[in-house]
Amino acid sequence: MKNITLFLVLCIGLYTAAQNPLAIPSTLNGPIINLTMQSDSVQFLPGTITQTLGYNGSYLGPTLILDNGSNVTINVSNNMNDGDTTTTHWHGMHIAPENDGGPHSLILDGDTWSPQFTVMDKASTYWYHPHLHTKTGEQALKGAAGLIIVKDSDEAAINLPRNYGVDDFPMIVQTQQFDMNNQIVVDGMRDSISMVNGTIDPMVDMPAQVVRMRLLNADQERNYNFGLTGNMAFSIIGSDGGLLDASVVQTRVRLAPGERVELLVDLTGMESQTIYLMSYASEIPMGTQGGPTMLMPNGMPMMLMDSPLNGSDYNILQIDVVTATVNAVTSIPSVLVQNGQNTPPLLTDVNTTRVIKFTALENPTPMQAMDGPFFFNDSSFNMNRIDYNIPLNNVEIWELRNLTMVAHPFHIHDVQFFILDDDGQLPPPEKAGRKDVVSVGPQDTLRFITVFNDFSGTTPYMFHCHNLMHEDGGMMGQFVVTDYASLNEEQANFNLLLFPNPSSGILTIQGESKTTEVLDVVVTNISGQVILEAQKMSGIDTTLNFSDFSNGIYFVKISDGMRVQTKKITLQQ
Ligand code: C2O
Ligand code: CU
Ligand code: CU
Repeated sequence: MKNITLFLVLCIGLYTAAQNPLAIPSTLNGPIINLTMQSDSVQFLPGTITQTLGYNGSYLGPTLILDNGSNVTINVSNNMNDGDTTTTHWHGMHIAPENDGGPHSLILDGDTWSPQFTVMDKASTYWYHPHLHTKTGEQALKGAAGLIIVKDSDEAAINLPRNYGVDDFPMIVQTQQFDMNNQIVVDGMRDSISMVNGTIDPMVDMPAQVVRMRLLNADQERNYNFGLTGNMAFSIIGSDGGLLDASVVQTRVRLAPGERVELLVDLTGMESQTIYLMSYASEIPMGTQGGPTMLMPNGMPMMLMDSPLNGSDYNILQIDVVTATVNAVTSIPSVLVQNGQNTPPLLTDVNTTRVIKFTALENPTPMQAMDGPFFFNDSSFNMNRIDYNIPLNNVEIWELRNLTMVAHPFHIHDVQFFILDDDGQLPPPEKAGRKDVVSVGPQDTLRFITVFNDFSGTTPYMFHCHNLMHEDGGMMGQFVVTDYASLNEEQANFNLLLFPNPSSGILTIQGESKTTEVLDVVVTNISGQVILEAQKMSGIDTTLNFSDFSNGIYFVKISDGMRVQTKKITLQQ
């Protein structure tokens, strides 16, 4: 019944609904980029206007065009004017931890954060979005998200469409749930309004030649199974973190939240035809969000909870084919990059294997089994706990064991990884390239290999489920990368970590001295007055409570009798 109703709705949608021209985000490029996150509003639906967030505009943000090897400064201002804090994370980019924009790099309302870095990434499509713990979903869903296109010389050497908005299309794909007042429902599971680049019922003119689509699944929970009407074939040329070695011809490509893919479609000779980019969600397995409705243990579908799009095939974008441009790309290259960028680290170089179990509550209700909360290794995210200390240049296998009933899109910061196997099977060629998000199916085990090179520091990097409800609900962990080889003898004998910094009241001191059991801790304020004294046992984590003090800068001085280390921390509560 549901499917018949939906079929009718779709027919009406396809043939009579007013289509709106697809918005193409504006672009910004280096060396200095200014982004302002602002509260705004959009007339998405007739009637009440919808409150939104955007960067430099009312919804979503400009596409940042970055060149590999160039230096860039990005000034991100928080201009929400509602007292809310944010952070801005450069998803998929290989960046020093203090520039990564995770939950420790707060941007208070009215402040500007200015990371500076050299672009080290391969040509691909990345994205940016807030990462404030417990509020990532809310801020991203209200519109704070944008694309990043990285260019490099290997990509430039291939005959590919790269005329932005003409034959090379950015596509931020999302669905929204609106309440009775036309406001975006955060954590809504009945999201039924599909949009691309913030346009509802979008249509776009594409020239009758080879075109490139850069698809980002920016949804908070939904998986897409993209395909073109008539089972028209396309070529997959890139995964999350770079071009593939060779293009892969397919009629479907599945994207979990956070994943990207680049496609080439040959529209040669199709002038004046109309095709549709669809999500063939009826083919998504049950248990993967966006697929058919899950059944309760009593056999009843969880329909009331569910979006009508789940398990249905629906239209994402109407494509009207128009006259080809001059200098059109007319053939799809089969060979892409041959520079070794898709060669994984060697198994014989692996130093560490980590097992991460995806877990639910011990005796979950049927609702909790499907909607969470979910955990890594049974523990919820804790800003004051570093889950892994990773030596710089370590080659690691991460074994992801999903013990829950639903799929989880696993994402790691800092690195791109290579899938070794998924339930014992080698990845298909389109997933064999550089990845930073991978969906791990219910009861599946997936292994990837990666190397933690280039960046070390005391700011933690995150790993988490990119279902934003799961992430905000605690399905996240953090790691620091430490360059043990370059620690001098003093530091090696007396190694300290203080986090989180900025601190919202509780500061954890992790550290040990090779020469003594008890360390003296003295905290002074900016004018040198001692405000706190404590002792901590070497090798055992200690927390300091700052919540009675006012916001500002403090110095934490720790001594083991022979050596003193002083760290500056910022209190923001
Ligand atoms: Cu898309 Cu931790 O991020
Ligand atoms: Cu990320
Ligand atoms: Cu999850």
